[in-house]
Amino acid sequence: MIDLHYAVPVEQTGWKTSDGSGTVRFQWDYDAGREELLALYDKGKRKQWDAAERIDWSHEIDLDDPLRTSDEYIPLFGSPMWEKMDERARAEARRHMVAWQFSQFLHGEQGALVCTAKIVQNVPAVDAKFYAATQVMDEARHVEAYGRYLSKLGLAYPVNPHLRSLLDDVLTDARWDMTYLGMQVLIEGLALAAFGLIRNQTGDDLARALNAYVMQDEARHVMFGRHVLRSYYPQLTEAERAEREAFCAEACYLMRDRFLAEEVWETLGLDSAETVKWVQDSELQRAFRSLLFTRIVPTLKDIGLWGPTLRQTFSDMGVMGFESVDLDSVIAEDEQAADDIDAARRAAASAMAVSRAGVDEVVEAGRG
Ligand SMILES: [Fe+2]
Ligand SMILES: [Fe+2]
Repeated sequence: MIDLHYAVPVEQTGWKTSDGSGTVRFQWDYDAGREELLALYDKGKRKQWDAAERIDWSHEIDLDDPLRTSDEYIPLFGSPMWEKMDERARAEARRHMVAWQFSQFLHGEQGALVCTAKIVQNVPAVDAKFYAATQVMDEARHVEAYGRYLSKLGLAYPVNPHLRSLLDDVLTDARWDMTYLGMQVLIEGLALAAFGLIRNQTGDDLARALNAYVMQDEARHVMFGRHVLRSYYPQLTEAERAEREAFCAEACYLMRDRFLAEEVWETLGLDSAETVKWVQDSELQRAFRSLLFTRIVPTLKDIGLWGPTLRQTFSDMGVMGFESVDLDSVIAEDEQAADDIDAARRAAASAMAVSRAGVDEVVEAGRG
């Protein structure tokens, strides 16, 4: 059972929206599966894991510095507000920042769970329904794992209004490909980049393992969106593709400019407008926000949404360089990173067993 302390009472934050579609598609043709999607489905089945077992939940988080990273990564670092804070206030700011960020991961994961269940219903092809079903289970596991992490942290934030409005746009659009585009490409693409920054920078074993394992699943999810949309978008008219590009451009600006953690600054009693302005203008924070597009840019190019609107958007945002990121090799690295953590944990467990056996032997010899 997850026991969370919410920054805002949950009775005030519940949300319902329409699923927009009402169209549920059945497909009676069962032997027309595309090889690459069936292979991904097989992989999805084989790579299921249990969040309760694979992650060491006995690990204690340092509540004053949960991610054990340099303070440079705190958005307030270097600001006049930060300079005024004593060590106690800074510790509080670190914990709230992590709680806010991981809460958005948690809510985004629930969004992914719901969106993928919607895909099972309304995608026309049966192979895509099969694969999406494995992803539904992956997303439930991610909700479980982030929820559990936050309960150890002892604090959770409600869904950010901009994330909620993006989820609303994705869910209420009746066109089946928009669920993929909004969720598998944009929201999951952004999340992957954010998980990756934490996985690579954190000094905390639990945060590293949690994000690495989730990323291993997410790599398949982004691949799913790529396979399906890559074969679908060339069939659309130029005008239909332009509509999708306009949606992506707007969502990218929103994700870059609006996720500024206002809720945290308010909760900490800081002047929200002044703090947001600082975070918006800080060179370092701008550089971090650009890094969030490392996965989205090459994926949109790969699926053929690469007309003037998106090229212009990304060059305005200064993230055009990511178009040459080799998605297959970063996905392979994500897989490897998770496997390496498993291997290190197995090695530590067997070293522990050997030393325990050594102690038993000495005790036994002493008795003899
Ligand atoms: Fe997920
Ligand atoms: Fe996902």
